[in-house]
Amino acid sequence: MKLEVYESERTLAQALAAVVASAIEVRPDIVLGLPTGRTPVALYAELVKLTTDRAIDWSHVRTFNLDEFVGLGDGAAGSYRRFMHDHLFRHVPIRPEHIGFLDGRAADIASECDRYERAIVAAGGIDVMILGIGANGHIGFNEPCEVLPARTNRVVLEEGSRAENALWFGGRIEAVPREALSMGMGTILSAREIVLMATGERKANAVREMMVGGVTTRLPASFLQLHPHVTVMLDEGAAVRLPATLR
Ligand code: PGA
Repeated sequence: MKLEVYESERTLAQALAAVVASAIEVRPDIVLGLPTGRTPVALYAELVKLTTDRAIDWSHVRTFNLDEFVGLGDGAAGSYRRFMHDHLFRHVPIRPEHIGFLDGRAADIASECDRYERAIVAAGGIDVMILGIGANGHIGFNEPCEVLPARTNRVVLEEGSRAENALWFGGRIEAVPREALSMGMGTILSAREIVLMATGERKANAVREMMVGGVTTRLPASFLQLHPHVTVMLDEGAAVRLPATLR
């Protein structure tokens, strides 16, 4: 894993936005895998700014988001679809039909997960997958467990993950759905390149275990050690528990 440590959340977001903007310029039909959460808010703000400054053409870019809450979709309050609309999609000239999203309201969840896997393959696979990490080591909504689903699946959320998401539901944990749909670990590892970003000391333990612990379903992000092209972008806070030999 390649490690980059930035002095602040802002400089990290600027660096990653510059990488994504340049990647779009070099490969206009790039397929991006995208995360939601607090961490990518700054990234998307910087990317929107660069899109204007550099007149970036999004007309051939395709995106697939990592996850969505069961029961929510189509821009409902609290949905990740709504988050992406508010923070990125409404500010950049991406074609709506190029936005890949799981529909948390699908009546047949298994077919919805299959549809998503097929759509990713039909788009040629994900070129660059951008990830955050949960304090419990989840990526996407692949929570710590005994057995990790390889492909897009329905998952039960840990209480801690629901608490972290209360922010998007007016601070009310009881309003956060108990289940989500998430790309599976195999789906994530099928991306050609992966960038994981983490900020703040709250993530420092998970980041350490991800990088130097064994590969275990108890810390799903540790599976990234099996991928040949992963860049880990941290601020100083998220890097505090890393062994000095890695810095
Ligand atoms: P956060 O979420 O950016 O809100 O901390 C990250 C994640 O759970 O992947």
